[in-house]
Amino acid sequence: MDKKVTVVGAGNVGATAAQRLAEKELCDVALIDIIEGLPQGKALDLAEAAPIEKHDARIMGSNDYAASANSDIVIITAGIPRKPGMSRDDLLNINAGIMANVTKEIAKLSPDSVIIVVSNPLDAMCHVAYETSGFPKNRVIGMAGVLDSARFRSFIAMELNVSVENTTAFVLGGHGDTMVPLPRYSTVAGIPITELLPKERIDSLVERTANGGAEIVGLLKTGSAFYAPASAAVEMAESILKDKKKILPCAAYLEGEYGFNELFIGVPVKLGANGVEEIIEITLTAEEKKALEKSADAVRELKEVLKKLG
Ligand code: NAI
Ligand code: 2OP
Repeated sequence: MDKKVTVVGAGNVGATAAQRLAEKELCDVALIDIIEGLPQGKALDLAEAAPIEKHDARIMGSNDYAASANSDIVIITAGIPRKPGMSRDDLLNINAGIMANVTKEIAKLSPDSVIIVVSNPLDAMCHVAYETSGFPKNRVIGMAGVLDSARFRSFIAMELNVSVENTTAFVLGGHGDTMVPLPRYSTVAGIPITELLPKERIDSLVERTANGGAEIVGLLKTGSAFYAPASAAVEMAESILKDKKKILPCAAYLEGEYGFNELFIGVPVKLGANGVEEIIEITLTAEEKKALEKSADAVRELKEVLKKLG
């Protein structure tokens, strides 16, 4: 393949993302992890599936970042996931250290890459990756809104018994309990769901979306969601690799947009070959603005904790 994507973290999200990237024949994949044998074993297993899945993407696993050199995109999933009773924010201390180490290696070996951050707490980890890499803001992007919107879309489709393909949804804000699903901008075949469902049903779908990650953790008990998160990261990677210029909700570094400064938060962006090519500012009602402000406060709080951690 003429494109290369490195996935750091060969765990549930990372290995599934590697599988999807290869099976869609989007790029060659380097899978990196600190656990000896894990990325090598998963990469070999995926390579052995290639004749059956009919793709020629090369997948290489390594504990050495040399394998990641000259990547077009680096998807960072390294870290620890949530266990029952843990919030995403409980992961802050451990994952911040991991994110800083990983980003240093990436910045050295793939200085022109676009970084897609997946590790939690997502918005705070974007700040760590942005500051450690020294990359321009368009080349550090967080994955959360695509996943949260996909969850909202699934719940809308289940509720109305329609194809998921007919649904669109927007979830803005930080990737946490304060995320902001926007029913006015969520549609079925172009019709806003506010015209299709009573308020109490919409409220219940919104609440299920905001708790979507915890719902899966509660069921799995030993980890968090990975199929949909991997799909979401790969949709972002595809838009960048193919310069598709899709509008997707992603965590982007804001400098004045939506009234926020020096803050990563989920907003609609145009994703193309240069990463975030445009931040789209949509009109929000006073209530939606208030909810986004609350969500931004939650991200700012974690940013402050990060500052104290040094
Ligand atoms: P996992 O535990 O299955 O995989 C994480 C992998 O990272 C492990 O294989 C581990 O060995 C590796 N790792 C740890 N430290 C490392 C280092 N310094 N260098 C390289 N690899 C290292 O976890 P899972 O389920 O894949 O989740 C990964 C992260 O993604 C978690 O922080 C989780 O909370 C987050 N996540 C974020 C989502 C989002 O919407 N942004 C959705 C789902 C997960
Ligand atoms: C999720 O939303 C845990 O952030 C992860 O599934």
